[in-house]
Amino acid sequence: MTGRIVAPDDAGIREAVDLLRAGSVVAFPTETVYGLGADAFSEKAVAEIYRLKNRPSWNPLIVHVPSAAAARSLVREWPVGADDLAARFWPGPLTMVFRRAPDLEGVGADNDTIAIRVPAHPVALRLLEACGLPLAAPSANRSESISPTTAEHVVRSLPDVPLVLDGGPSSWGIESTVLDLTTDPPTLLRPGALGLRAIRSVTGAIALPGDGPADGTARPSPGMSRRHYAPRARLILTPGVGAADENTGVLAFSGQEGKNRELLSADPHEYAADFYAALHRLDDAGVTTIVVQEPPDTEDWLAIRDRLRRAAAS
Ligand code: TXA
Ligand code: MG
Repeated sequence: MTGRIVAPDDAGIREAVDLLRAGSVVAFPTETVYGLGADAFSEKAVAEIYRLKNRPSWNPLIVHVPSAAAARSLVREWPVGADDLAARFWPGPLTMVFRRAPDLEGVGADNDTIAIRVPAHPVALRLLEACGLPLAAPSANRSESISPTTAEHVVRSLPDVPLVLDGGPSSWGIESTVLDLTTDPPTLLRPGALGLRAIRSVTGAIALPGDGPADGTARPSPGMSRRHYAPRARLILTPGVGAADENTGVLAFSGQEGKNRELLSADPHEYAADFYAALHRLDDAGVTTIVVQEPPDTEDWLAIRDRLRRAAAS
């Protein structure tokens, strides 16, 4: 049977562990979005992630571990700054990119680095402890579509996943921030749940993707393709939004709520928590266009503006 959603109780965790040890995949909740997990160093298991998601082979995977000590065992160099970042933000929505330990294979990519995070969701941590494997886990959705923040979203996007552990809605609702620690200062590869102000308070300066010379030497996260995180409907970003109708959904942070008109918070953290779910609801309502009120051009909205821009790209 596929697409089965189970409670993360002893029986559910045991079943998930058996699947993962057998080289299969399991979807599990994290505080950011649901992940599609597999043994990070099993070629067969990782291949199954790429197959199910229809993910391009050049886009590497984040490895999830239960502790900073477990992370250290996977890297060749543990930069000084990593201790402070791990102490402050792990478990949590920060992914750090390191030089990979020489005896390990690349996780879905032919590079010499590894992206690692310790997720803050109790079910994710329990699963990681119970299976004893580092888990590669991209967001549990078809490549390019909207990330899942509930178990139901996973099953609808990936009906062939054998098992989904249900941990309720993800509290952050947007992916982790990806920070490359192989550069000095560290480079932001993907804006995400953890804001830059918080990171800078630990690292000092951060290099932003746009900072590099225009000759292509700046290294954005390989997964940051132009179109990504996209609903089925066409998405349009505008400063002001009007009324919704049968065919037109509206995503606003001011005005009234109504049929096909989603009202999200004007606070970026609260907005993020319901953002993908709102896009899923409008898609499910069958609208062909979603008009989105453009959030302010400030750093607090960086991750959401990034996702909106990619969702709107054609
Ligand atoms: O919040 C999250 O990060 C979620 C949950 C499940 O943990 N995962 C997630 O994974 O968003 P995914 O595969 O959808 O995005 C992974 C991002 C991609 O942009 C990818 O290019 C980047 O991390 N990445 C992975 N490995 C990398 C590496 N070695 N160097 C640079 N970027 C890397
Ligand atoms: Mg993703």
